[in-house]
Amino acid sequence: MRTQVGILGAGPAGLLLSHLLARAGIDSVVLEVRSREYVQHRVRAGVLEHPTVELLREVGLADRLDREGMPHEGVSLRFEGVDHRIDFIDLVGRGITVYGQQEVVKDLIAARLAAGGDLRFEVSDVALSGLADAPVISYTGPDGARHELRCDVVAGCDGFHGISRAAYRPEVFDREYPYAWLGILAKAAPTRHELAYASHDNGFALYSMRSPEITRLYLQVPPDTDVADWPDSRIWDELGTRLAADGFTLNEGPVLEKGVTGMRSFVAEPMRHGRLFLAGDAAHIVPPTGAKGMNLAIADVRVLAEALTAWFAGGGETGLDAYSDTCLRRVWRAEHFSWWMTSMLHNSPDGDPFTRRLQLSQLRYTVASRAAATSLAENYTGLPHGGGC
Ligand code: APR
Ligand code: PHB
Repeated sequence: MRTQVGILGAGPAGLLLSHLLARAGIDSVVLEVRSREYVQHRVRAGVLEHPTVELLREVGLADRLDREGMPHEGVSLRFEGVDHRIDFIDLVGRGITVYGQQEVVKDLIAARLAAGGDLRFEVSDVALSGLADAPVISYTGPDGARHELRCDVVAGCDGFHGISRAAYRPEVFDREYPYAWLGILAKAAPTRHELAYASHDNGFALYSMRSPEITRLYLQVPPDTDVADWPDSRIWDELGTRLAADGFTLNEGPVLEKGVTGMRSFVAEPMRHGRLFLAGDAAHIVPPTGAKGMNLAIADVRVLAEALTAWFAGGGETGLDAYSDTCLRRVWRAEHFSWWMTSMLHNSPDGDPFTRRLQLSQLRYTVASRAAATSLAENYTGLPHGGGC
């Protein structure tokens, strides 16, 4: 079996890459260890930056997004019992769209299958060889048979726990945070239209949503938290306390999903090894404060698709050689922004009063100064692809 680009992983990175390549007449095969059902229902963040939405529109993937996505023109920072709105449109002239990551994945899978794309789910024992000049991906199919896929290039879009990154020795930059997020999805109509990031003496809380019927909420908890210690009533009480602000009410409802997510910052450099190119979570992780994960994955594969298109057209290696450095500029901007939002909004577990006063000062400045608010808005809504960092 042969293809031009062998893609590991059917997350946003792998699927979008396959779509962009197909538009340029380049064939690819996507190999995924999980089932289609599983990847379509994995609950993740749901904020699309402005450049992400523009790209999805440009490449014909935004029909449902434009119908069902929720455009937001601002976000709130909530502290000391007061809600402060950051008006994106006023500050930077662009907003964000709330649309669940699994909806993006569903749309991508539907588009690839409609175009005859080759997506192979439930593969196992994936191994890479020949990465210097003649890559081969070997794997076991769902039928138990072993297969070999020869390709010109391998795209490692297999997420943080994938195998691609282990194929070489990138330099790794890593930070774990001393807290995690307890997230719930609740069948409760949002009582406000926009997201609120709250910093409270008890810890961080986030108010988000998925649709006019579904609220998505998070609480800062210790990293070793057992969800069993958080019955629904305790979660609602704590959300009520941390999100409290004048005129705000929280709608409660049945909890549809509950889980604890760890927080880390991680970057692997470079993002290329011979004919292997890493993209998305395989190469970098951000803590979820700021919701940059999927947006970065999408920015990576845009750069990769352009470089591969030029290379397959005989245009030389320049784009491929620049791939890692180009992506890493945006990656480090997002790493900084996510770390900054995280540090400003989460309580340190030791309750250090000096840190708390610095955080409150930073929060007050961010909402009071147009320059500071603009910086938040510019990063949150997404710097233009190919510029600004
Ligand atoms: N071979 C093939 N696929 C694999 C392998 C493997 N050895 N190991 C893991 N995978 C699959 C995973 O099952 C997953 O479906 O790779 C996929 C990677 O997808 P994501 O984790 O969604 O990563 P990515 O496409 O880079 O998207 C980044 O995902 O983690 C979130 O919030 C993050 O929004 C960000 C986005
Ligand atoms: C979400 O809606 O899941 C969400 C929103 C904003 C974040 C993280 C997650 O920063």
